[in-house]
Amino acid sequence: MSDSPFTPRVFSGIQPSGGLTLGNYLGAIKRFVDMQEDDFETIYCMVDMHAITVWQDPEALRHQTRELAAGYIAAGLDPAKSIMFNQSQVAEHAQLAWIFNCVARMGWMNRMTQFKDKAGKNRENASVGLFTYPALMAADILVYHATHVPVGDDQKQHLELTRDVATKFNHDFGVDFFPLTEPVIEGVATRVMSLRDGSKKMSKSDPSDMSRINMTDDADAIAKKIRKAKTDPEPLPATLDELSDRPEARNLINIYAALAEEDAQTVLTQFEGKQFGDFKPQLSDLAVAKLSPIADEMARLMNDPAEIDAILGKGAARAREIAHPILARTYDIVGMIQS
Ligand code: TYM
Repeated sequence: MSDSPFTPRVFSGIQPSGGLTLGNYLGAIKRFVDMQEDDFETIYCMVDMHAITVWQDPEALRHQTRELAAGYIAAGLDPAKSIMFNQSQVAEHAQLAWIFNCVARMGWMNRMTQFKDKAGKNRENASVGLFTYPALMAADILVYHATHVPVGDDQKQHLELTRDVATKFNHDFGVDFFPLTEPVIEGVATRVMSLRDGSKKMSKSDPSDMSRINMTDDADAIAKKIRKAKTDPEPLPATLDELSDRPEARNLINIYAALAEEDAQTVLTQFEGKQFGDFKPQLSDLAVAKLSPIADEMARLMNDPAEIDAILGKGAARAREIAHPILARTYDIVGMIQS
């Protein structure tokens, strides 16, 4: 970072395509808050244009966008410190995405595992937007010359593509204009797994609600989901190595560690030899203690949607001030007349 000519700037985004999960919180939002407190300039987006790459009911999209903003604020993001807005309010994202659609190659997009997963077997029926999704994501980041992007592990490939887009643009036009953004994928919770199946990521789109903890779940729901979480009959071992073939157990230890802000080994040492019957109630108490205040604050904020919209409007205006000159310079490099 020190030898980069670019000012350190953090950008990240979440799709308002459903409710927030514990995976989004531990893998992303909690880390957004850490970076906000770390003296970075921080920009956090609700990526509504990404969300519509698969069908979204318009009323639900509006609700989910506000609820995501409420989640950001309730978890500790401060609109006075971080720039917060929904993507569609800053047109520069879509404008730069078009340029990047012309920089990125079909072959790059064809290799994206998220596209393959989301399009499923019926690729012919996927939206064109879903295919070019990563070009819009590169634009989100590079329209601010962001240098650091905190995300969960599943976004790694998209961030590599963002670097490829920046490299090819700089190379094709003979400039050193876009930074090579650093993915920030750190901590114990970069991949929170389903509570029902330790080989699957916890996801808002999983058909089973028991597979995830939602940030809006009440104490009873959290306790029930943890009580019913899949485990195995063995007691907890002394070392993390002994958990390597016990993915469900490892996942619950990781969740505990992330919530308690400890490392996984410390948690394991604390519970060594204990059965899940002893561990789960303690995990449940910890989760309720950490998550309930966030859920309560989200519900309070959702009582005043106009206030949320005002925060997003102000955030968008601040975002545009950074994005506009970078887009203008991009157009100039590409050879577009702006008179
Ligand atoms: P999305 O909306 O799927 O997820 C938002 C963030 O939450 C993280 N995450 C998880 N982390 C740990 N464990 C999990 N089970 C888990 N599930 C989700 C994701 O890694 C992500 O950080 N393409 C992005 C949104 C996006 C974006 C961007 C991100 C659009 N433009 C620019 C960064 C920068 C996405 O689909 O995230």
